Amino acid sequence: MGLFAKKPAPAATTVAPPANGDAPASVPKSPSAITGPKPPLPVPPPKPAAAAPAVAPIAKPDRATEERAARFQELKSTIHRKLVEQLDMTKLSREASSEMRDHVRQVVTALCEEENTLLNYSERSRLVEEILDETFGLGPMETLLKDPLISDILINGPKQVYIEKGGKLTLSDVKFKDNAHLLHIIDKIVSPLGRRCDEVCPLVDARLKDGSRVNAIIPPLAIDGPSLSIRRFGKDPITWDDYVRFRSCAPEITEFLNACVHAGLNILIVGGTGSGKTTLLNNLSSFIPDDERIVTIEDAAELQLRQPHVVRLETRPANIEGKGRITIRDLLINSLRMRPDRIVVGECRGGETLDMLQAMNTGHEGSMTTVHANSTRDAVQRVETMVMMSGFELPTRAIRQQFASAINLIVQAARLTGGRRKITNITEVQGMEGDVVTMQDIFKFEQIGVDSRSRAYGRIVSCGVRPGFLDRLKASGCAIDSNWFTPRTLVEDDPD
Ligand SMILES: Nc1ncnc2c1ncn2[C@@H]1O[C@H](COP(=O)(O)OP(=O)(O)OP(=O)(O)O)[C@@H](O)[C@H]1O
Ligand SMILES: [Mg+2]
Repeated sequence: MGLFAKKPAPAATTVAPPANGDAPASVPKSPSAITGPKPPLPVPPPKPAAAAPAVAPIAKPDRATEERAARFQELKSTIHRKLVEQLDMTKLSREASSEMRDHVRQVVTALCEEENTLLNYSERSRLVEEILDETFGLGPMETLLKDPLISDILINGPKQVYIEKGGKLTLSDVKFKDNAHLLHIIDKIVSPLGRRCDEVCPLVDARLKDGSRVNAIIPPLAIDGPSLSIRRFGKDPITWDDYVRFRSCAPEITEFLNACVHAGLNILIVGGTGSGKTTLLNNLSSFIPDDERIVTIEDAAELQLRQPHVVRLETRPANIEGKGRITIRDLLINSLRMRPDRIVVGECRGGETLDMLQAMNTGHEGSMTTVHANSTRDAVQRVETMVMMSGFELPTRAIRQQFASAINLIVQAARLTGGRRKITNITEVQGMEGDVVTMQDIFKFEQIGVDSRSRAYGRIVSCGVRPGFLDRLKASGCAIDSNWFTPRTLVEDDPD
């Protein structure tokens, strides 16, 4: 089977990358792109958020360029088809040896000559590289995968590929030939994982070998064509040093959180989609002492714990007959019989929330999870709703009581306007007053404004509150710096 659609390529459909083939000019290329040194800029008054796209709009190609691009694609299809006729494609994979790649490169170069292509040198090398990417890799996605600064790849049908780089979401110039081409790439991604994505099973959630999270959903469920969402976790995951470097957090807060985890507080991480919850959970988990037994439970394993004593559990979707599904809840209940010291649940989305609160209340202190909520207050309501999904009819007050006695600390992550990610609130859950869960911020982010690059900026402050669990931190042998709780600014962004 060819890597493209089986029939010969129709002309004038696929748009090639712009002539320079480079990443859009204004996307920062240095690893410090997220908050690293910025070029000096004058300080104009703040602009509205929509006024500063990260990438210059892609110029509309003229007719001659379009025709040339179509000819290029047609040629690529022809050469690729001939290549497929000559080679045993089943032996080719992304892990293929460099000799194998060189061999295929020679065959493709020879085919190019046979075709008498009239391509210039750079077009010809691009053609050879693109065919190699199709043959060994994931086609047009390979260029994106080679860029370590791209964190999310969001494909909405063959002609619309968005990327997130340095916290900014932008439209890339990568395109697939058609739906069949994109479906083929999806198949290439999911089939080595023992999964399928077709009419019978039109949605797949999976994890790549490098830890990236993948979701594919195809027609008829996805109306405008196959859709693929990839959340990449770079080779170098974000660490506490990065949090401090990016001013997502202050060094004092890192030390404080270390003490909280060490002392076995139950911690709830809250935040919106893509706000950095999992990254935070991963980093908080890194503070768990090495001599404790940790069980992690996730839908698609993303956590990368370094401790020696970790049991990683992952849910399983139902099979084609709709049987065999294992949920977070099943794993959580099972984990209680595994004598864990700590339970780390990737995300609570439903009835498992009740089991998680109960586990935290019954001897599994130091457990952590994340929930999707836009504020610490909102988190209480979310938890209430999710506990109701467990099927037990508990009165709201009872749920709140469970919450207040289970959770000691809430850490809120947020993706601010313009893409900066921050820890915005570190909040102690104090207890209940009447029907209300009482909480107070220990540290928080205060936004000052929006800078010339449309990015929110502000400062992280200590609120001057000594948490009620301080004695517990001391009792567990943690070094406490009383300065942590002196009201002051801990770190401030530079507006530019
Ligand atoms: N403090 C940070 N600074 C810069 N980038 C960050 C920071 N925290 C997380 N990121 C990046 O943001 C992206 C989203 O992070 P993460 O997966 O942790 O979010 P999430 O809230 O768990 O998302 P989802 O809701 O999809 O599960 C990742 O690419 C991650 O590397
Ligand atoms: Mg997550």
